[in-house]
Amino acid sequence: MRVLFLGDLVGKPGYSATLQYARALRHELDLDALVVNAENAADGSGLTNRQFSRLLDAGVDAITMGDHIYREWELAKTLRKSDRIVKPANFPPDAPGRCWTTITTSAGETLAIVSLLGRVFMRPVDCPFQAIDRVLHELDGVTSHILVDLHAEATSDKQVIGRYLDGRVSAVLGTHTHVPTADACLFPGGTAFQCDVGMCGAYESIIGRDIARVTLTTRTNEPCHFYVATHDVRLCGALVETDSAGRATSIERFEKKIPTS
Ligand SMILES: [Fe+2]
Ligand SMILES: [Fe+2]
Repeated sequence: MRVLFLGDLVGKPGYSATLQYARALRHELDLDALVVNAENAADGSGLTNRQFSRLLDAGVDAITMGDHIYREWELAKTLRKSDRIVKPANFPPDAPGRCWTTITTSAGETLAIVSLLGRVFMRPVDCPFQAIDRVLHELDGVTSHILVDLHAEATSDKQVIGRYLDGRVSAVLGTHTHVPTADACLFPGGTAFQCDVGMCGAYESIIGRDIARVTLTTRTNEPCHFYVATHDVRLCGALVETDSAGRATSIERFEKKIPTS
């Protein structure tokens, strides 16, 4: 199975480029599945119901989110209803959304998608280790093709959770920092791993936001709106291939520069 996972879609640049290129990427890369993290799609924070629908219409199979999942609260309705989007599995049980979902590829294979939040330099959440153990117990007998979006700040946090899952899932792919890391690899047990796959958005920026505005607030503490940046737009992610048993056989960093129109 060939799966492309794209990191955080940041604002209109990342969202629009994903809409524009999703079908072409499916074709060019011979994908069985396309999964995206869309937690920053709505002007840099959250995802609207309309954006959710348009991403699916454009050829995205499933969507993960992160700490900004409820910034557009209207999405709660979609999270309760749709099986194409998941909440972090270590959110409270009463938080809207499902802890895992599956999609069926055109070849008839099943891919499970799970989202987990880290706990270092993040707002408090439930234990990710207990949450993923519970999810994997539920997935036992469902499929061994399992993609985990690990949404966390610290590389150490990501590595320890990634190693914990080696041999138990197909891929542990990091999001949230918006900066791609150069550590894409296969762990010994057959799990593909990358600390952060990078964002889909404007790279002439501070993690997708206007450089001058972020710098102003950082230097002076003057509160101001961080506009979404617009220059040097790229789609970033990871392309993972798995064998019939769900073990990863390759992982490649994916990066596509979007030409300016
Ligand atoms: Fe993000
Ligand atoms: Fe995040």
